[in-house]
Amino acid sequence: MVTTTLIPESKERMVLSDLPVIDLSGKRDKVRKLMVKACEEFGFFKVINHGVPKEIIDNVEKESKEFFSLPSAEKQKAGPPNPLGYGSKKIGFNGDTGDLEYLLFHANPTSIYDRIRNISSKDSNRFSSVLSDYVDLMKELACDLLELLGEGLGLEDKKTFSKFLKDSQNDSLIRLNHYPSCDSDADQRLSIMKSKDDKSLRVGFGEHSDPQILTILRSNNVEGLQIQSPLDGNVWIPVKSDPSAFFINVGDALQAMTNGRFVSVRHRAIVTAQKSRLSTMFFVAPSLQACISPLPEMVTPENPQKYRSYTWAEYKKTMYSLRLASNRLELFKL
Ligand code: SIN
Ligand code: FE2
Repeated sequence: MVTTTLIPESKERMVLSDLPVIDLSGKRDKVRKLMVKACEEFGFFKVINHGVPKEIIDNVEKESKEFFSLPSAEKQKAGPPNPLGYGSKKIGFNGDTGDLEYLLFHANPTSIYDRIRNISSKDSNRFSSVLSDYVDLMKELACDLLELLGEGLGLEDKKTFSKFLKDSQNDSLIRLNHYPSCDSDADQRLSIMKSKDDKSLRVGFGEHSDPQILTILRSNNVEGLQIQSPLDGNVWIPVKSDPSAFFINVGDALQAMTNGRFVSVRHRAIVTAQKSRLSTMFFVAPSLQACISPLPEMVTPENPQKYRSYTWAEYKKTMYSLRLASNRLELFKL
């Protein structure tokens, strides 16, 4: 069942009846149509019946929970973020909500193992094999999704998007995030500073769009992810947690290749819960020298070419030079 209706209540406030949910066990023709619609309207959807075994998902959650509960000195052994490795960042008001911690790797077994083999208080072989199994499944799922999208758009070559991931030089990443719980002291201090409903002081990961092609996100059963309403940039739509599902984000590169037909969803993660939140992201990225360009099929007299071609390496430079919240794709507009 998919509902993608936005019901404007007033100019200031809108209620979203439901975010798109796509059952991947459905008929291929129906699935690809619904995916295209979701990417056009939201740049975001949830997939269920995706075929990724629960056991593998549970193993990743268990291993990452164990990793983030290690002493700081052990976690540092995964290397400083350059930007890969282990990193942490103070969040909340003057850091009173604790640290967002993360692990970021290239999505291949060697990169993963190289980073975690020095962690002595954890079985690195097991940790890296659990993550590598997960990465393999994410690659498979991402290829399927990208091919469904290629078909749904009626592209002559359904592998138009998936071939970026099949390229052995692809720059795809895997990231594990750990958000702290919100203790009651912090709650109290925050309520003095700002009204209860204002979550702005507890943003764990600020507003942004993902620069890559597609993101597959999964979290434990703690809420936090919010997507920006496509109708009103001031409205943030909370995504109900569903640990058995995956959430799919369209990234900037897919918006560029579809010449703006798909929207790269702006999103953020907030920290409100009494429980800590764990999320895992698989970012599908092309090789550094790959050229991202609006597809000829997406350029028509009514929808002339919106973006210039760029290499992934060129786009990545903007990630280090611009603020997180910037709309980087604007720089590539014609
Ligand atoms: C992100 O968008 O990179 C973070 C989202 C999350 O941790 O849920
Ligand atoms: Fe993101």
